[in-house]
Amino acid sequence: MIGPFLHPFARPAATEFIDIVAGEGAVVTDARGRRYVDAMASLWYCNLGHGRTEIADAVAAQMRTLAAFHTFEKFTNPPAEQLCALVAELAPVPDARVFLTSSGSEAVDSAIKLARLAHAVSGNPQRRLIVSRRPSYHGVTYGGMAATGLPPNQEHFGPMLPDVVQVPHDDLAAAEALFAERGDEVAAVLAEPVIGAGGVHPPVPGYLEGLRALCDEHGAYLVLDEVICAFGRLGTWWGAERYGVRPDLATFAKAVTSGYLPLGGVVVGGAVRAALESDPDLVLRHGHTYSGHPSACAAGVAALGITRREGLLDRAVKIGERLSAGLRSLAEDGHVAGVRGDGAIWAAALHDDLSAPAVRDGMLERGVIPRPIGTSTIAFCPPLVISDAEVDQCVTALEEAVVAARRQRS
Ligand SMILES: Cc1ncc(COP(=O)(O)O)c(C=O)c1O
Repeated sequence: MIGPFLHPFARPAATEFIDIVAGEGAVVTDARGRRYVDAMASLWYCNLGHGRTEIADAVAAQMRTLAAFHTFEKFTNPPAEQLCALVAELAPVPDARVFLTSSGSEAVDSAIKLARLAHAVSGNPQRRLIVSRRPSYHGVTYGGMAATGLPPNQEHFGPMLPDVVQVPHDDLAAAEALFAERGDEVAAVLAEPVIGAGGVHPPVPGYLEGLRALCDEHGAYLVLDEVICAFGRLGTWWGAERYGVRPDLATFAKAVTSGYLPLGGVVVGGAVRAALESDPDLVLRHGHTYSGHPSACAAGVAALGITRREGLLDRAVKIGERLSAGLRSLAEDGHVAGVRGDGAIWAAALHDDLSAPAVRDGMLERGVIPRPIGTSTIAFCPPLVISDAEVDQCVTALEEAVVAARRQRS
C-alpha cells in the first residue's frame, strides 16, 4: 500500500522501504533487526558515525536553554556565534565570515546570490553568469538545480534559472573558451572539489588551479561547493586545502553536524566581504528562518569538536587507502571495470553487463548499504569511524553481489 510519506528521490508509486530504526558507529539496524554497514555515511554526511551521545547531549542542553530564536536584523545567539568563529578559524581563506543555512541547496543558492550581489554593489551588475560543471550536483532548489550538471534532475522542472551554463568537468579548455567569449559576464564559477553525487570524480590535475587562474584573470569569483568535501572527507578540513586552491566562497553542510541536525552555510572570503561591507547602509536581503538556529549550531560545535579531538582527518586517509586497495583488487580480478576517488570517497565503475541498482540490492542482502549512481557506479563514502573489518566487508559485499548478479544473468 502507498503510505503518506512522499519520499525524496524515489518512485512516488513505490510501496516498499527499508525501515531504519537505530544506528551505532558505522552500523545501522532496520525494523526487522537486520544490521547493515553504512558505507555511505547515510547520504555523504555522517562522518562521526551514528549514536554520538555527546552531540545529543549538547543539543538537549541547548534546547533546554534556548531551543530556537531567529538571527535576522538585530539578533544573535551564542551557538551561532561560536560555530561561525570555529568555521572561520578552520576556513581555507583568511578573514572569512560565515553565512548560515539549513541545507546544502540553500548554501548553494546563497553563494550564487552573494556572488551576484557583491558584483552588483561593486558596479558590475552585468556579472550574473554562473558557470558550473557537467556532471555535478549542487542540490534541488531552483538555483542549485539549475547549476547541477545532471539533466535528468532538471527534466519537467523548467524553466531553469537563467544565466547558468555548464562546461565539461574535466576540460579546462572549454572553460577558457567560455571565459574568452563571456568573461566580463561571469559572476562565479561553481565547482565541487571532488564531484560526489555526479559520480565521484576527483579533479584532473591542474583543473581547479586553472579555474582559479581564469577567475583571477577575468574578475569572477570561484565558489567551491564543499558540501561533501568539507570537514574531513578528503583527509583535510576542506577540499580547497587538499588541492591547494583558494576559493572566494565555499559552501558546506552535511558533516558540519554529521547530519545530526540540518545545517549548512557559506564561507565568505575577503573579496566578497569587502564588496558587501563597503556600503554601511547596504542590507543583505537574504536569509532563512533557521539561519543560525541555536540547537542546530550547538550540534555543529559539538561535531567539529569531536572531529578535531579524535583525529578523524588522518583516519579518513587510512580508510581511503584500505577501501581503494580493496576496490582496485576487484578491478584487477575483473569484477569491476575501474576505480576512482580520493580521501575517503570512492566509487567502482561496473562493467556494462551489470546495473548499479541491482548490484546495490545484492549488497543490501549482504548487509552493506552503498549508493548506486546512474546505471554503472557504486559509491562509497563511509563514516570516518568505520573499522578496517567493516571496510573489508564493503569490498567483499561488492565482489559477492557482482558475482551473484553475473550468475543470475547467465
Ligand atoms: C556538492 C553538493 N552540493 C549541494 C548539495 C545539496 O545539499 P542538500 O541535499 O542538503 O540540499 C549536495 C547534496 O548531496 C551536494 O553533494
